Amino acid sequence: MVTVNTILELQAAVKAWRSAGESIAFVPTMGNLHAGHLHLVSVAKTKADRVVVSIFVNPTQFGAGEDFDTYPRTEQEDQEKLKSIETDLLFLPPVAEIYTPDAQTTVSVSGMANLYCGASRPGHFNGVATIVCKLFNMVQPTVAVFGLKDFQQLTVIRTMTRDLNMPVQIIGVDTVRESSGLAMSSRNGYLSAAEKTIAPLLYQSLNTARDAILAGNQPYPDIEQHALRFLQQAGFQPDYFSVCRSSDLKNATLQDTDLVLLAAARLGKTRLIDNIYFSKEPGMNAD
Ligand code: PAJ
Repeated sequence: MVTVNTILELQAAVKAWRSAGESIAFVPTMGNLHAGHLHLVSVAKTKADRVVVSIFVNPTQFGAGEDFDTYPRTEQEDQEKLKSIETDLLFLPPVAEIYTPDAQTTVSVSGMANLYCGASRPGHFNGVATIVCKLFNMVQPTVAVFGLKDFQQLTVIRTMTRDLNMPVQIIGVDTVRESSGLAMSSRNGYLSAAEKTIAPLLYQSLNTARDAILAGNQPYPDIEQHALRFLQQAGFQPDYFSVCRSSDLKNATLQDTDLVLLAAARLGKTRLIDNIYFSKEPGMNAD
């Protein structure tokens, strides 16, 4: 695996591959890699000849008072992990390589990007869309792989690539979980031992709500309220719990069949997000 810190070195490497007719799969990350990230890399390896991973803790997607400064940075361990699964290239730029002080252009996705996490974290998805657009221009991948763990982020990126005619195929990959059901996340490291025993209840609340929807006897707002109360009683400070249609993340109606339940809740100082998506059509679900 080659590690490069500059855009010039990155572009020289990907240009050589493209000239040789090789396709490139790209996995952007913020590092502190866990099994979820590594699963994305293993899927990426099946989609193209070469795999590029980036590690960049992107300042523009963190709000004031959020955890940009304390976000776990474990580049040495991350490099070992990526080497062991035969990543071709790691792009590990410093902030000054990516953002120049005189930059005047950002990418902003409207509508759905202002709901849910976008409402609680104003500007967050503009930061995500801008960095992902910039990284796509630097890497020029054939395909890019993202986790369904961040369902709204994936929807924002799909919307951006569609609206701006970006020539990259976006692939969504299922969430990797701890045996407790807790979705793996770089932020799980913030949880205390006591909080770690409570955290899996977020996924449990999603499963309970899905079962209630499939049983079909409660209005969706009641299911949302019930889940919010359950989370509060378990010790979370819930942010949102929403029954959405998976195509555009609008509030689901009873006629919608493909649904995603989106949830975010704070546990102590840690903000956790999770979701499950499913179809109300019999036989359309994986499990
Ligand atoms: P980060 O949180 O590091 O996540 C990088 C990628 O890993 C994202 O596509 C995310 O959805 C995926 N991922 C995280 N946890 C996962 C899990 N448990 N199972 C499967 N996939 C998982 O998301 C970001 O970074 C940033 O916003 C980024 C897209 C890199 C832009 O800065």
